[in-house]
Amino acid sequence: QHGRIKVKTTEEQQEVKRKEREKKLQLYLTCISTVFKKRQNGELDQEMLELTSQILGVNPDVATLWNYRREVFLELRKENKNSPSGHPVIRGRFLQTVSSSIEFNPRTYSRFSQNRFQLHKIGKPGAVTALNYCAISLFANFSFVTFFHCWDYRRFVVQRSAVLPVEELAYTNKLISTNFSNYSSWHYRSKLLPLIHPDMERKGRVTEDVLLKEYEMVQNAFFTDPNDQSAWFYYRWLLGRAEQEESITCLYASWDMGQLVVGFSRPVNVLLESSELVLFVDGRPTPVKWQNPRKTQSYSCVWVSVLRTVGLQSGAPIMTFFCVWGGGQYNKECILYPGRTETWCRDSATDEQLFRCELSVEKTTVLQSELELCKQLQEIEPQNKWCILTIILLMRSLDPLAYEKETLLYFDTLKAADPMRTAYFNDLRSKFIIENNILKMEYAEVRVIDLSKKDLTSLCHLDQLLLVTHMNLSANQLKSLPVSLSMMQCLEVLEVDDNEVASVEGLYNLPRLEEVSLRNNRILLLSICRPSDLCPLATCPKLSILNLQGNPICDVIDVQSELVLLLPNVEIIM
Ligand SMILES: *[C@@H]1O[C@H](CO)[C@@H](O)[C@H](O)[C@H]1NC(C)=O
Ligand SMILES: *[C@@H]1O[C@H](CO)[C@@H](O)[C@H](O)[C@H]1NC(C)=O
Ligand SMILES: *[C@@H]1O[C@H](CO)[C@@H](O)[C@H](O)[C@H]1NC(C)=O
Ligand SMILES: *[C@@H]1O[C@H](CO)[C@@H](O)[C@H](O)[C@H]1NC(C)=O
Repeated sequence: QHGRIKVKTTEEQQEVKRKEREKKLQLYLTCISTVFKKRQNGELDQEMLELTSQILGVNPDVATLWNYRREVFLELRKENKNSPSGHPVIRGRFLQTVSSSIEFNPRTYSRFSQNRFQLHKIGKPGAVTALNYCAISLFANFSFVTFFHCWDYRRFVVQRSAVLPVEELAYTNKLISTNFSNYSSWHYRSKLLPLIHPDMERKGRVTEDVLLKEYEMVQNAFFTDPNDQSAWFYYRWLLGRAEQEESITCLYASWDMGQLVVGFSRPVNVLLESSELVLFVDGRPTPVKWQNPRKTQSYSCVWVSVLRTVGLQSGAPIMTFFCVWGGGQYNKECILYPGRTETWCRDSATDEQLFRCELSVEKTTVLQSELELCKQLQEIEPQNKWCILTIILLMRSLDPLAYEKETLLYFDTLKAADPMRTAYFNDLRSKFIIENNILKMEYAEVRVIDLSKKDLTSLCHLDQLLLVTHMNLSANQLKSLPVSLSMMQCLEVLEVDDNEVASVEGLYNLPRLEEVSLRNNRILLLSICRPSDLCPLATCPKLSILNLQGNPICDVIDVQSELVLLLPNVEIIM
């Protein structure tokens, strides 16, 4: 394999980062000690507010600081006698207003917003009572709308009064143990846990010991009532993957075609003023003009530009890409080997934990036994679609390739149990099959992907196929070639025989595409815009063979002569 390089941050970069962290920490510590000194000296002023707000911005869990802020607010109000809430008695009355307005009409959202404002002025003691009030109303009067407003309100109160997420979690424990059939409590839990027990390596996820306990807790819930959806939903979240950090995942440079391609983990817009994508060649910034494959102004996972090869041939220039967006910045390096026609470096789907996670022994053991339990439950409750879906997700977490066949059988069971959602399950199934085949392709280290005869109903993860040159999509149930296909900048040969394709929108601006086979599909000429269904193909400069046999278009009179006008350099078989 040529040019495939694992990119690692250099020691130098790590050193720079370490120094930055140290500087930030130092600043933070200085801030904190200033705050404590000011408090001792009774300096409850504007500066105190600013300092505490800076620290709380970094670390909102420092409860003492929220208290100091309250003191400052009260002090400032004492100075400004016009403000009503400065006096303790009046504060108490405000509180009553808050509670009574909720009681009076719990559904009026505007009241809640107003209360937010007043709560903001009152500070912590009021907030705590309001929390209790919320707790009481949750247990006393069960209206769905009330509930949701109250919950939202509660979340706001929590933010304001700095009730620790730990206490909130205990509250969800209480709700769930009273009645686990509560989607919102579980959902709230999924928001709290990553705050309290963050997994440092996997963004948005929780540490493994906590995760394993959660599995047990939620399993008790769905064994008690397998038909309750809320616990299954939560289980699905537990089995989920980490959020992907935004980064450059792939770089590709073609010497002979003079093309540069940059792939991102998420859609970005490098044309926005607030962002920048800079190319350095041999350490020098080099001006380039970026375009997404659709040549639009919008977000895309893939950006391309012309690679000027003049003056680059000698030696092995190093290319670095440097990006800055609103929040962060990152870079990636790629070495061009002289004498090669193309070169690339990228994160692989196998080592990125993208479609597959490395499991610890403990986690494997727990998931295995969960799988066994779910299978037993499924035998007792053969129609329970949540149980079947969870079995599939467990198998995917354990080993997507080893369980592939079994997973597909469970999909058949799933569709039989809930025929109303067949379309959704088919797309989910397609997604899993594509993920598995990307894994297989990566393990085989090839740039060819065979997705034929897989009953695919939709395409996804095409951004992972940036380097693929040959793709076989024959004998599936695809209805279109989506716009995202234009991310496959290296695609040369595409087979889509025996599908239901009516539009080829995605075959647009593909610089290397030479051969397309679309036999036995639904390609048709629309009467208004005659050959426009095939128009995107005219933007693929290298296209030389197009097979349209077995499409309705073949029956149109004089179609040949029109197609020749549209695609003059293409041999069209029909
Ligand atoms: C629950 O709320 C409704 C209207 O929101 C009210 O009529 C009813 O009396 C309340 N019930 C209790 C037990 O508070
Ligand atoms: C729990 O809540 C659900 C719906 O909210 C309800 O159907 C069920 O009866 C409740 N169970 C108990 C034990 O209160
Ligand atoms: C969740 O629990 C609260 C309090 O027990 C209850 O008011 C609410 O109806 C529950 N929600 C659902 C969807 O069962
Ligand atoms: C693509 O898949 C179809 C259907 O399985 C098969 O007939 C065809 O030979 C495949 N193409 C290549 C190049 O292997």
